[in-house]
Amino acid sequence: MYIADDKRYDSMQYRRSGRSGIKLPAVSLGLWHNFGGVDHLENSRAMLRRAFDLGITHFDLANNYGPPYGSAEETFGQILKKDFLPYRDELIISTKAGWDMWPGPYGNLGSRKYILASLDQSLKRMGLQYVDIFYHHRPDPDTPMEESLGALDTAVRSGRALYAGISAYNAKQTSEALKILRALGTPCLIHQPKYSMLVRDPEQGLFDVLEKEGVGSIVFSPLAQGLLSDRYLHGIPSDSRAARDFFLKKKDIGEDKLAKVRELNEIAKQRGQTLAEMAVAWVLRDPRVTSALVGTSKVSQVDDNVAALKNLKFSAEELRKIDGALAGKQAA
Ligand SMILES: NC(=O)c1ccc[n+]([C@@H]2O[C@H](COP(=O)([O-])OP(=O)(O)OC[C@H]3O[C@@H](n4cnc5c(N)ncnc54)[C@H](OP(=O)(O)O)[C@@H]3O)[C@@H](O)[C@H]2O)c1
Repeated sequence: MYIADDKRYDSMQYRRSGRSGIKLPAVSLGLWHNFGGVDHLENSRAMLRRAFDLGITHFDLANNYGPPYGSAEETFGQILKKDFLPYRDELIISTKAGWDMWPGPYGNLGSRKYILASLDQSLKRMGLQYVDIFYHHRPDPDTPMEESLGALDTAVRSGRALYAGISAYNAKQTSEALKILRALGTPCLIHQPKYSMLVRDPEQGLFDVLEKEGVGSIVFSPLAQGLLSDRYLHGIPSDSRAARDFFLKKKDIGEDKLAKVRELNEIAKQRGQTLAEMAVAWVLRDPRVTSALVGTSKVSQVDDNVAALKNLKFSAEELRKIDGALAGKQAA
């Protein structure tokens, strides 16, 4: 029987999501990879246990995480039943709908029909009565925003979700979505954008909108799927995400990128951190970021990513060196 570490709240930092009542751990764990039906259940279970023991109270899912689609939610449901049910009120569990899930015109994008049916399926797979956060996973240009976001409002009003969130909406779409959700009476809790040293789009307006509107952000892929670590410094390991050559492509790990990663690795060393730790710390340097949403394939990575919290401060000089490395300029 699993008994959570009674020191689990001693060192984790919790940050408020915008102007809401919810605080999230500075590091949250996502189940996109390594929790599917093809993965080892006991490894998935060990990572979830270790995460919770370290104070990670937030687990992020989506309808189609796997493979196969739906299986990460099934895995999570099994582990929840075995280990976490006594701790349900200590957990923030999220899921999403918006990408392809089942065949036909009602299994993708942004219709009310799809979003609410998908949530019902997710709850069933996880064995939950409600999720804490339910996201529209991406904007659907062909469905009125009122319809997609109205479905989130229904999810909350019907008790199937406690809060609504959006993901991958750009700054302009976000401004509009926040207005619609507020008018519906279900204010948006959080936005989930992609953000890392290598992907800086939210700096071009999205973070400003969220700050002004008092909405939090949980940034996904802060390690750029593993690239911002020491994983690829000496080739592509056979057990790595890039070896699967699907979501992280071998062709995207070229020499020019590796040269930047090597330089970032040196800067991390000077800070007394691994590059993975520095990548997590770097996204958290911005107070508009509520949580860094990492993925892991082994328990040791959970530890490493949480260890980032030991040094979240960056000097102006370090930030300048990092920007220089990213721009491909040799640090002075
Ligand atoms: N909203 C959206 O559209 C969206 C899209 C993508 C992801 N997400 C969410 O964000 C979560 C995280 O995404 P992600 O998995 O791409 O995040 P990530 O943290 O950037 O990458 C995770 C991968 O990096 C490697 N890694 C992690 N910690 C490491 C460490 N300490 N040292 C060395 N390597 C390390 C592992 O790769 P190996 O497997 O190679 O070991 C791991 O699978 C997802 O699970 C999901 O919940 C949301």
